[in-house]
Amino acid sequence: MADLTTVILAAGKGTRMKSSLPKVLHKAGGKAMLAHVLDAAKEAGAGRNIVVVGFGGETVEKALAGEAEFVRQTEQLGTGHAVLQAEPLLREEKGTVLVLCGDTPLLTGNLLKKLAKEHAASGAKATVLTAVMPDAAGYGRIIRAVDGTVERIVEHKDATEEERAVREINSGIYCFEAPALFAALKKVGNDNAQGEYYLPDVLEILRKKGEKIFAVAADDYEETLGVNSRAQLASSEKILRRRKNEELMAAGVTLLDPDATYVDADVVVGRDTVIYPGTWLEGATVVGEGCEIGPQARFQNVRVGANVTAHFCYAHECEIADGATLGPFVHIRPDTKIAAHVKIGNFVEVKNSSVGEGTKLPHLSYIGDADIGAGVNMGCGTITVNYDGRKKFRTKVGDGAFVGCNSNLVAPVHIGDNAYIGAGSTVTKDVPAGDLAIARARQKNIAGWADKRREQ
Ligand code: UD1
Ligand code: CA
Repeated sequence: MADLTTVILAAGKGTRMKSSLPKVLHKAGGKAMLAHVLDAAKEAGAGRNIVVVGFGGETVEKALAGEAEFVRQTEQLGTGHAVLQAEPLLREEKGTVLVLCGDTPLLTGNLLKKLAKEHAASGAKATVLTAVMPDAAGYGRIIRAVDGTVERIVEHKDATEEERAVREINSGIYCFEAPALFAALKKVGNDNAQGEYYLPDVLEILRKKGEKIFAVAADDYEETLGVNSRAQLASSEKILRRRKNEELMAAGVTLLDPDATYVDADVVVGRDTVIYPGTWLEGATVVGEGCEIGPQARFQNVRVGANVTAHFCYAHECEIADGATLGPFVHIRPDTKIAAHVKIGNFVEVKNSSVGEGTKLPHLSYIGDADIGAGVNMGCGTITVNYDGRKKFRTKVGDGAFVGCNSNLVAPVHIGDNAYIGAGSTVTKDVPAGDLAIARARQKNIAGWADKRREQ
């Protein structure tokens, strides 16, 4: 089905979302709804995807640049009018056009494949994907003739009480033969409750012309759930999260509490990794095998190796290699590379730095703009003083160095390999390899002072 073409409707404002962000860019499962739909289309073998944009069109085009072709619908006059905007791009199209809505994030490539296959086999000019909903409110209802074939679709707002009792709904997803679609669209009027040009009216027009129209029912209504409100967005979110968690568990990942584990659609997790509750794995995060993540971890676009332990951590746009242990209460900020078997403990923040293999940052440190070698011990409370109020400077610590507790390393500064820094030092000058630096006031003891004071 490589020659499948889709038209994806995404021009609506999404009034019911009450948002300044175009509806289709709202995220579910960590990804814009429209991106989910595009993924499903591509999975089904769509070679060409045309997205109709309108409200916030520029924002939508920017968010999905390179992923599809875009056409503008300058006035949102209805779904039929929206599809018509794609006609200039599809003049030569003699085959099937799959019409999708940008607000159905639960759609899968498999369901679209099934729809396209059954449409082709039926020889119909139009095939609508339907579903039986537990609560059909808001959807267009499928009105079938006595022989069981689809007669027409009636929108919720135009429906009679009797029609509203129908639970079989229009998913808003269809296959059309392109020439028949555009010919019929020109005959669609807007004499209805919303004063809009309804795409579903095409079915009735085709049927009246004696053309064959067909319906395919989705086995699982969930896949066709549309999002018109924040409450529906939350329901879709929940389903996407559940699906992802099921996929992870099937692939050998332990989730102690799937209901409290939030993993975005594109995240990869290796087998035998154990995820504790309160964990968020987001964006392009990849976690290796045998890790222990959480409780309370948030990773955004993080590359995590194998056998990493991370509890009570926030890490973003960074890399953490095999066997590292993080936490509790660790913040790893962008552009940081943590090498294998590094230990980062209580209340440590690392930013734009590299930390070499086996190095320890066990307690209460700020490491910013630094290159720390391998096998380094950074004592409790070590601070890289990287900022003079105007500019940032780098700190370099050589392999095997030992930095005593509560030291300030005032950048730019270079601590040589295997050097020693006395506790409490404020280091402002480079320390050669193998040397000891002590940069603190010398201690003076005043004999008997405390005793005298007590006697006064
Ligand atoms: C639509 C269908 C309804 C179906 C439901 C499935 C119509 C008239 N109704 O209703 O039968 O049950 O989807 O979810 O088609 N859009 C445009 N331009 C417009 C209007 C809408 O691009 O002028 C886009 C929207 O951005 C959205 C999609 O079309 O992605 C559907 O529009 P929406 O307003 O959500 O239609 P529904 O009322 O849900
Ligand atoms: Ca909708």
